[in-house]
Amino acid sequence: MLTFEDVTNNPQIREYIRRTEQYMKSIGYTDHGFTHVEIAARRAQELAVMAGMSKREQELAAMTGYCHDMGNFLGRTQHHYWAALLFSQVFQEQLPPIELAAAMQAIAAHDKEDVDVPSKLTACLVIADKSDVRSSRVFDKSSANLLLDIHDRVNNAVIENKLQLDAKKKIITLKLKINTSQAPVMEYFEIFSERMTYCRHSAKTLGCKFELVINDFRLL
Ligand SMILES: [Fe+2]
Ligand SMILES: [Fe+2]
Repeated sequence: MLTFEDVTNNPQIREYIRRTEQYMKSIGYTDHGFTHVEIAARRAQELAVMAGMSKREQELAAMTGYCHDMGNFLGRTQHHYWAALLFSQVFQEQLPPIELAAAMQAIAAHDKEDVDVPSKLTACLVIADKSDVRSSRVFDKSSANLLLDIHDRVNNAVIENKLQLDAKKKIITLKLKINTSQAPVMEYFEIFSERMTYCRHSAKTLGCKFELVINDFRLL
């Protein structure tokens, strides 16, 4: 049976992630490479554990977290579809159809414009992915770039990021510490309000509530 470790050691997958990392950096985006997908994989698995999903679903959650952004090197706008198709191309012989289709659906849905959360697996991936905001995602920290690029500015201002999971109360809390001299909290909302809506819908799919706490103030 295909394991998460097999996925992380697969040379094709590693090359797709490496090339994505390189490409996204070259077009001025934040980190979409190994650090980001490792965080997404770990968080997706932790969310699956919290939601009481089966051991196998927990493993699938980690796999989708690791593979969700590897389609970016083929084109940014449809990268979620590319990643789902690449995933199926690489693993179709090694996963039963039910697992393959579930993983493809989660990967394809992680970045759609319509807020559509078709499964618990998707919900885990969406929260794991969208919650990864941090200063180390920013490659170009020059003041000229930070002045111009609001995404980089807001990510760069996030000095602490914790995803707290309370299984008993069924509350998922994203706790951020933002350096407000670098970016006001309002800018965070300007950029991330859509993402936070996506997280709220996803938490609901897991039977949980999503909370956002910035600098000790609860905003959601
Ligand atoms: Fe993505
Ligand atoms: Fe991502």
